[in-house]
Amino acid sequence: MDIQQVLKEAKKAIESCESQQQLQDVKVAYLGKKGKVTGLLKLLKDFTLEEKKSKGAEINSIKVELEELIEKEQAILKTKDINSKLSNEFIDISFPPSSQSEAKVHPISKTFDEVISIFASMGYSVAEGPDIESDFYNFTALNIPEDHPAREMQDTFYIEDKDDNDLPMVLRTHTSPVQIRTMINQKPPIKIIAPGRTYRCDSDATHSPMFHQVEGLFINESANMSDLKGTLIEFCEKFFEVQNLKVRFRPSYFPFTEPSAEMDIAYSIINNELRIGEGDKWLEILGCGMVNPVVLENCKIDSSNFQGFAFGVGLDRITMLKHGLKDIRAFFSGSINWTSKNGFGLGNY
Ligand code: DAH
Repeated sequence: MDIQQVLKEAKKAIESCESQQQLQDVKVAYLGKKGKVTGLLKLLKDFTLEEKKSKGAEINSIKVELEELIEKEQAILKTKDINSKLSNEFIDISFPPSSQSEAKVHPISKTFDEVISIFASMGYSVAEGPDIESDFYNFTALNIPEDHPAREMQDTFYIEDKDDNDLPMVLRTHTSPVQIRTMINQKPPIKIIAPGRTYRCDSDATHSPMFHQVEGLFINESANMSDLKGTLIEFCEKFFEVQNLKVRFRPSYFPFTEPSAEMDIAYSIINNELRIGEGDKWLEILGCGMVNPVVLENCKIDSSNFQGFAFGVGLDRITMLKHGLKDIRAFFSGSINWTSKNGFGLGNY
């Protein structure tokens, strides 16, 4: 029984392994149930008690030594495998794209840029807020009472984290909380838009659980409903590139505005072609109104001196309308084919 010979042989076998699989085979060949080291242990039964003790200890010590060696080698081979995978799967990002899968600008990204530049030309700056909001900014400060249907589970995504008032945090259901954040941090005059992602538990051809809105807020000493109408009509005419756009304002209700309205855009489909701004069909694209004095006071703005208007536009809707796209879910499919077909080249961007 040459224990040291088995050790030497095993060490050599371990060192010559080039893959994790080979190492596994060596492990089985020496330390497995029918392996050589285990075989040595089985031979002990023919030895004297004295020999059993000393040889047994020697066999166990080479077993431990081999186990350690295999573990070390395993780590080396694992790193080697990862490195070789990384170099084999290397992507040359400087390589020109093939013409079939040309990268294009997503319609929503284009809308974001257009909306920002239209409002920037009217003197609005861009404000931002977090997607994960507290109950206070998303609801309470906006005068949305505790029992308002918008708070019900089917609309709002709640998350496990709690806010300072021990209420669950939410994925913001609209961009309106950015109004509150801005009014709390900034003194009037205020003239901001807040484009961004919003979330509601809803999904069909015209609703997606994640969608986009742009919020607008204008506060000074005299802003009124006719300023609001003028602003929104100018925005729509520029965005849809249509003059004398046919629109209508309908009275509505939002807890954070008083009075409140919704704006619809006229459209028609003639010979399968969508015409925006004319015809007898209507599509609702935004909610708006004069900021409720209660909301101003919630943000420590003196409502006897200041007033203003706010609006919230569904960006996915106006994108679908402008480009004749029917299913909102396609926006978020992540399909390069869809984006190649419906997106915009940087040239005409
Ligand atoms: N936050 C409203 C919603 O998501 C939209 C909205 C309506 C925003 C009226 C406003 C507003 O700022 O004044 O349904």
